[in-house]
Amino acid sequence: MQNDDWNGAARDRRSKIANGVSACSDVWATRARLTTLGQGDSFPRMDTELTPEQEMLKKSVRDFADGVIRPRAHELDEKGEFPRAIVKQMAELGLMGVAIPERWGGAGLDALSYVLAMEEISRGCASCGVIMSVNNSLYCDPILKFGTDAQREKWLTPYARGEKLGCYALSEPGSGSDAAAMKTVAKRSGNEWILNGTKNFITNAAEANACVLYAMTTMGVGHKGISGFIVPMDAPGVRIGKVEKKLGIKASSTCSIVLEDARISGDGLIGKEGEGFKVAMATLDGGRIGIAAQALGIARAALEEALQYAGEREAFGGPLNQLQAIQFMLADCATELDAARLLTWRAAWLKDRGVRHSQESAMAKLYASEASSRIANRALQIHGGYGYVKDYAAERHWRDARITEIYEGTSEIQRLVIARGVLKG
Ligand code: CAA
Repeated sequence: MQNDDWNGAARDRRSKIANGVSACSDVWATRARLTTLGQGDSFPRMDTELTPEQEMLKKSVRDFADGVIRPRAHELDEKGEFPRAIVKQMAELGLMGVAIPERWGGAGLDALSYVLAMEEISRGCASCGVIMSVNNSLYCDPILKFGTDAQREKWLTPYARGEKLGCYALSEPGSGSDAAAMKTVAKRSGNEWILNGTKNFITNAAEANACVLYAMTTMGVGHKGISGFIVPMDAPGVRIGKVEKKLGIKASSTCSIVLEDARISGDGLIGKEGEGFKVAMATLDGGRIGIAAQALGIARAALEEALQYAGEREAFGGPLNQLQAIQFMLADCATELDAARLLTWRAAWLKDRGVRHSQESAMAKLYASEASSRIANRALQIHGGYGYVKDYAAERHWRDARITEIYEGTSEIQRLVIARGVLKG
């Protein structure tokens, strides 16, 4: 497809997103008036009011999630089935490359729009949320930022369009939080790179067409020996290893990638040799905002269902929601959800302005993920015995929320990143 045709198609998708939206009367504060979230005068001030386009996007994605995703979430979780048809529809809506410019196949929106869409999709189904998040933030974003135009043409455009799916491989069986301790090696051989090693816990790997993958190109110099590569999943010597059975987000796949003398072309290096660790970390600065938004979506689904249950279920002569014990739980949930959303929007807002946002992303991910678990836990508790069985979604939200405290950096790693920033001043 010619670029002009493609730009036209991208516009069509964006107008599809916006289609039919008149007004938004969302209780979840689509107009957040933040004045001073800052840390003193040196911090940029944020006065966020969603643009009409962002309002439309939010409403349209919510309608899509309510109509198409939410009704299937229980079944997808039960079967542990990758939602191919839903991913295809998300691609048609431009959701697989939300903040990627139209020139490279994306919807050409911004990071805040991405966060809004991610919350809505994850409210419908957390597994769909992580599939979307990995393709957007962890695969497309580093190729956009660090790739050459030739790499963007081949390895970004079809992925941002959602015709193909990407994944991101940093962790290994022996290195998770200490990412620089990786053992996978890459050596030049003529016009190729030869890779050996195993990557662990890789979301989307089983369905992906390509992977942004990190390996040691120089041994003995720590993180300065790490380089980033674009690895086609059908390259010789690349295979899928163990497929994990998980507590939650069951409709997304998580597996290891085994590299046995895997051969990729010499132009597969992303960024400069030896600068892969910085590519990986900068990518996670954006990825963590996506996971914070996923946590928001899960928490909102949990709270909405708890509200409904507490309005319908009767105890001690009236509905549960008239009991102060329940009201206090609902109040804590609503407060934490709003606080988490403000931190997440702030991080996205900074990303959109090209400001370094490592600390703010870490704060957003830390707070939103832990709040999501607390909210899902209270929502389950409000359901009583019904929360513990599969007739209600409360137990799924509780299981799904938990991973947001682990992947893309555990809560402990987020605290480490935040503390380093605080100490630096
Ligand atoms: N942006 C750019 N550069 C950065 C950076 C960032 N955000 N963070 C660090 N760097 C640079 C530093 O400036 C430093 O550069 P110099 O050597 O030039 O000074 C270099 O990188 C090394 O930094 P550190 O000394 O801070 O490195 P460290 O070894 O102490 O590690 C860490 C830091 C924060 C612990 C890091 O290892 C980390 O984030 N670990 C967690 C890994 C993680 O999140 N894994 C998730 C896997 S992906 C996943 O879950 C995906 C999925 O499928 C859903």
